Order: sequence, then C-alpha cells, then structure tokens
Amino acid sequence: MEDSQIQSFYKSRNVFITGGTGFIGKVLIEKLLRSTEVSTIYLLVREKKGRTVDERVDKMFDDVIFNVLKKECPKYKHRIDVISGDCTMPDLGLCMQDKQTLMSKIDIVFHIAANVRFNECLKLAYMINVNGTKEILKLARQMTNLKSLIYVSTAYANCPYNEIEEKVYNSIRYDYVETLIEKMGDEEDVVLTSRILENHPNTYTFTKSLAESLIKDTGGGLPIGIFRPSIVISTYKEPLAGWIDNLYGPSGMIAAAFLGVVRVIFCDRENIPDLVPVDSCVAGLIATAWDISTNESLTETSNHLPVYNYVSSVENPITWDEFVELNMISLKSFPSSNSLWDTFVIMTPNVYWNRVLQIFYHTLPGLLIDFVAILSGKKPRMMRLYKTTKKSSDAISYFATRSWKFSNDNIRNLWQKMNRTDQKLFPLSITTVHWLIYFRSYLRGIRLYLLREPEDTLEAARRRYVRMRRCNTALKWFLIYIIYEFALKLLSYFHSYMF
Ligand SMILES: NC(=O)c1ccc[n+]([C@@H]2O[C@H](COP(=O)([O-])OP(=O)(O)OC[C@H]3O[C@@H](n4cnc5c(N)ncnc54)[C@H](OP(=O)(O)O)[C@@H]3O)[C@@H](O)[C@H]2O)c1
Repeated sequence: MEDSQIQSFYKSRNVFITGGTGFIGKVLIEKLLRSTEVSTIYLLVREKKGRTVDERVDKMFDDVIFNVLKKECPKYKHRIDVISGDCTMPDLGLCMQDKQTLMSKIDIVFHIAANVRFNECLKLAYMINVNGTKEILKLARQMTNLKSLIYVSTAYANCPYNEIEEKVYNSIRYDYVETLIEKMGDEEDVVLTSRILENHPNTYTFTKSLAESLIKDTGGGLPIGIFRPSIVISTYKEPLAGWIDNLYGPSGMIAAAFLGVVRVIFCDRENIPDLVPVDSCVAGLIATAWDISTNESLTETSNHLPVYNYVSSVENPITWDEFVELNMISLKSFPSSNSLWDTFVIMTPNVYWNRVLQIFYHTLPGLLIDFVAILSGKKPRMMRLYKTTKKSSDAISYFATRSWKFSNDNIRNLWQKMNRTDQKLFPLSITTVHWLIYFRSYLRGIRLYLLREPEDTLEAARRRYVRMRRCNTALKWFLIYIIYEFALKLLSYFHSYMF
C-alpha cells in the first residue's frame, strides 16, 4: 500500500478549529485525533450557561463519539488546547497571548462555527456568521505558517438559484447589508429583515451567502476554500454507526414520527432531500484542507477561490419517499419504547391538503389526548408538542418541497486525486455510502443517542410494537364495521321511508 499523502500533510501540524463543540466539529476533532498525527488542535470555545471553556470541553469529551478514540489513543487530551473566544467579538475575543500563539503556530484552520438557527434575528446571525468570518480572515492573514483555511458554508447558501455550481454567487453585497444592519434599531429588525433577505427563505442561508461573498471579496491571496455540505445527518460507520446529537431537519421529523407524534410531513415525496452522513462529510473536510494546500493556483496574488459542493444528489440520490420507506423498514427492528401509537407517515407537497391532514392527524387527536390528560389530573403536553413540531416543519418546508441541481466536480476530482490508502482512510465519496445499510443504523442511533432509549429495552419495545400494530389493525376493522353497519341502517331507513 502507498503511504497516505493526507496523513503526511497533517503530521506534526497545528490545527485551529472554531465550532468544535458542535455536531460536525466533534466528529472532525475525533477523526483528526484518531486518524492523523496532528501536533495540537486549538479549539476556539465560548463560555456558556455559566460553564468555563475548559469545563465545556471536558464535558464534550464525555460524549460516546469519543469512546473509540479513548481506547485507541488514550493520551489524546495532550493534543488539545482550549482557547477562550467568541465569534461575535472584535478579534474573536482572544487575549493577546492566545492571538500570538495562533499567529505563530497554526498551519490549518477549519472555520465551522455558525449560528444555524434558520430564523435567528438578522443582527445576531450576521454577527456570528459574517462578522465572525471577517475576524477569522483578519487573523488568518497574520498566521505565518498558514497552509490551508476551510470555511464551512452550506450547499443551500445560494438556494434562491435552482442550479448551484461550485462558485460564489455574489448576489448581495455584504458591506451594503452591514450598513443597513448598523442603522437598524431592534424594532426595525423584524420589519426590514424580510425586505433585506429578498428571495432567501431565512437569515441562516442569507448570512452564509454573505459570508461567502465576503471571502470572495477579501480572501484573495489566502490558501482558502469553501466547503458546502448539504443536510448533514448521523454517522455512517465512523467511529460508530448512527451517532447524532441534534434534532435538526429531517432527523427531527423522523424522531417525531418514530414516537407516533407526527404523521403528516409537508414534503414532495419525489424530491431529493440531499443528505450526507457526518463522518463522510468530515472525511471530505479533512481531504479538502489537504487539496487546498496542494493547489498551486492559490498564490498570494491570485483571486481564485475553490468551492466544494459536498452533496449526495449527484452521485447517490435518495428521494423523500425512499427516505421514509427505509426508515419504516428499520422501525420493525428498532421501535421506540415510548411511542404513542403505531407509526405511519403521509407525505404531501400541497399546502392546503397538508393543513387539512394536520387537523385530522395532529390537532384533533392532540386535543383528545390533552383532554384525557387533564381529566386524569396530568399535565397536557400534546398541543405544545405539535406547536414545536409545526415550527420545525415550517422551517424545513422550503427545502422539503424543492429540488436543486448541484454540481460537485471539485469533490469528484479530489476523490480521483487521492491514492488508495487515502480513499480507505478518508472515504469522502458519497458513492461509498450504501443507503440500505446506512438506514439500518439511522433509527437505532436516533433511539439510542437522541431519545436515550438503551439497547436493553429493545426486546420489550419490539413486543410492544407488535401489540400496537395488532391493536391498530383491530381498531381499523372495528371502524370499518361501524361504518358498514351505519350505512346498512341508513339504507334500510331510506328503504322503509320511500316504499
Ligand atoms: N448540520 C448541518 O446539517 C449542516 C449542513 C450544512 C452546513 N453546515 C454548517 O456546518 C457548520 C457546523 O454546523 P453544526 O451542525 O455542527 O452546528 P452546531 O452543532 O449548532 O454547532 C455550531 C458550533 O458553532 C459554535 N458557535 C456558535 N456561535 C458561536 C460564537 N458566537 N462564537 C464561537 N462559537 C460559536 C457553537 O458553539 P457553542 O457550543 O458554544 O454553541 C458550536 O460549536 C455550520 O457552519 C453550518 O452552517 C451544517
């Protein structure tokens, strides 16, 4: 076997990561520590909820995602250095000493931190997603050893376009928006935001697109690339299958359906929800940083800016229909111990039909369950739950009812450029993902890591699932019988009335 070019690129390098405590960040840290010989990973972390940055990182390493690493590289913590900072602050809120360290030591930067809430107020989204990126570029210019800087954007940063190529679409000038935002009072924010967003569905895609324009305009001469994943979901294989730590996007919808709470999903079943597993995405990130470092066209005077669309729809697409179908198959093996009722899902792309179905399948049963809860002295929860699920369903509806045509030549070329060893170590190509195998672990992961239902409850849950299915079938036949009887009675009534 040939030597790994990617491993030798990372060997003894110092890496700076923002957003390391997030979903993608954790998997990146784990993979870098386990599969490369990086010297030190510097993590930019902010204090949160009264916890210091060190406490937060200690807690982060308690996550099961790091269990394999702990076994394989027990001394991994020596290679972590936590730096206190915040993307919304000037100079990222770094103290002078930390700034000096980063400037003199860092070889590779992954700027992952972002506010990913779709409907965050524009000012805050701008401060984190655009201003934070501006500060990163400022710092990167002073890094004397910088070989590669990856900005993690999203494949939907340019969602107003139907065809998305691997280039920056300078549709809105970030400095124009900055001036508007500076002039805005808090009250104006709500009113003006929708006008400023133009044809973007939310402040998230809008500010990610602004950050891309900022990089295009001011990132010249830096060894920088933009990496755009589509919808990132749980791990395929590494370090463990099915791991996920959030309920964003389709995973939230599936978890709610899994629990028998959601039955209607507003989406076009023929559309492709462009999904990518987080471990494949991280392999792509790691390889992209290497690719940037070898890109000779990125000279100090060049304005070339490589963009990598990390998507599945081009080479290995699945439709919403298949997504739901594969989950339904896996449901038999991994049912929830806490599901309310038998799971089934109706998909519709029609706004009005969706509303009607929501009333019959969500609102009315929800009201009934809450009514029974109140009568038995319990707290009513269902309508509150439906309000929350409706909010997240509304947030993703724009994406669930549309399709985009992406190109991903840079990712495909990168895969071809990697030698066999690297392809094995960093399997970034989405063609290596077998969805049937993937979805066997997906529900299991949601059950185990998000809903915290231990594996030893599975047998009982399976028996309960079979009982529920039988009850559901019995209830259906009973209802059919009642309707049939009612129709017969009605018929005989009309018969005796007329003759
Ligand atoms: N997940 C997806 O499906 C997806 C798809 C496409 C692109 N992306 C992009 O991938 C990146 C990571 O997404 P994710 O899913 O991992 O999100 P995530 O789990 O919400 O993580 C966001 C990270 O950003 C950090 N952060 C937020 N505001 C910050 C601030 N002011 N200063 C410093 N750090 C801050 C968070 O730190 P705290 O822990 O302190 O909050 C966290 O580490 C984002 O750039 C996102 O746009 C994600």
